[in-house]
Amino acid sequence: MKNILVTGGCGFIGSNFVRLALKSLPDCRLVNLDKLTYAGNLKNLADIEDDARYRFVKGDICDAQLVEKLFSEEQFDTVVHFAAESHVDRSISGPAEFIQTNIVGTFTLLEAARKAWLPSSPLTPSSSRFLHVSTDEVYGSLGETGLFTENTAYDPRSPYSASKASSDHLVSSYFHTYGLPTLMTNCSNNYGPYHFPEKLIPLIINNALQGKELPVYGDGKNVRDWLYVVDHCEAILTVLQKGQLGQTYNIGGNNEKQNIEIVETVCDILDRKVGLLDSEEPRRSLIRFVTDRPGHDRRYAIDASKVRLELGWEPSVTFDEGILKTIDWYLENPDWVAGVLDGSYQEYYAKMYGDR
Ligand code: NAD
Ligand code: DAU
Repeated sequence: MKNILVTGGCGFIGSNFVRLALKSLPDCRLVNLDKLTYAGNLKNLADIEDDARYRFVKGDICDAQLVEKLFSEEQFDTVVHFAAESHVDRSISGPAEFIQTNIVGTFTLLEAARKAWLPSSPLTPSSSRFLHVSTDEVYGSLGETGLFTENTAYDPRSPYSASKASSDHLVSSYFHTYGLPTLMTNCSNNYGPYHFPEKLIPLIINNALQGKELPVYGDGKNVRDWLYVVDHCEAILTVLQKGQLGQTYNIGGNNEKQNIEIVETVCDILDRKVGLLDSEEPRRSLIRFVTDRPGHDRRYAIDASKVRLELGWEPSVTFDEGILKTIDWYLENPDWVAGVLDGSYQEYYAKMYGDR
């Protein structure tokens, strides 16, 4: 693995991956193609931007000319595709961008890889890998019991998950039809440093620090399976190095939690670390149950035994450790937080949550 194209490397998971890849693969060259949407932030990679092995390109994965030019200039042998519109609530209020980036963008990358790697025959260069980073949301919603395996039927229920499911099918079709050397990972909810505060955990941390209300959708009993972001990035490296072409690997932390448990945990940790609110009340007093998300999936839970047994990956951070590390990171990086809570964030927040 020498010449890597990472898409969406300025986002939450992508930036954690770029940092880990440069550390773990001393001989690699890494190009990060990112459009810098509201979710992409150059500050997420400020610490490595001067690394001679790293090049940042501002651009859109839907721009076929640009993507093909990069393949020809850089002779990529590896693609790790993170770029996406990733927030379910935004996909409900504005699905068009999700269709464009998640479906058309993935198609554009697949075509560029096909042209570069399989110019005249279906012979696959053994070193090339196209790893598509996907989500457990493609499997839909679980009842009280059961786990998503790699064989669970797709049943996406939001425009976001439907667009990711479409992109997964395209990736799979390029493997079967053209022999493109693809790999796919479907991961559960990530949390950790550089998480944009539209998502549950960073939103709750920021609001709780500011003494703002903490919006919990519905009855707060929806379940997510949480994984520390660096563990997800380690899993992606493992799949790149040891995964079998054409295969999908489910990645998860075996950490099922109800949303309300997460919110209460964050409140209690902050009370201990920074003291009670000015009113002397605990932060749990800020919790408000609000109107539910339309089509809100009830429960996600991943069976990660395939990646564990076949490739030897294990998460290394427990939820108790990960949430403390995450909260410490937000406390230690107030400038990053202030930078992302800009005018466009305030506008989004007011539209979603009113003036709470
Ligand atoms: P994110 O929203 O934080 O970052 C997305 C990045 O993609 C941003 O840097 C953005 O600027 C870039 N981008 C968006 N549209 C682009 C375009 N057209 N061209 C180039 N760049 C573009 O997302 P994330 O949470 O880091 O998720 C990364 C990937 O992982 C996504 O594919 C998502 O579906 C998947 N995933 C996320 C989670 C999670 O819990 N966050 C879990 C499983 C899978
Ligand atoms: O499962 C993987 C997915 O996890 C990824 O594919 C998505 O990109 C990622 O955004 C995440 O999706 P969720 O919808 O699960 O994450 P979110 O942080 O938006 O919400 C987590 C849970 O918390 C969900 O049940 C909705 C709830 N929630 C969320 C917000 C933002 C609230 O109760 N209040 C909130 O304000």
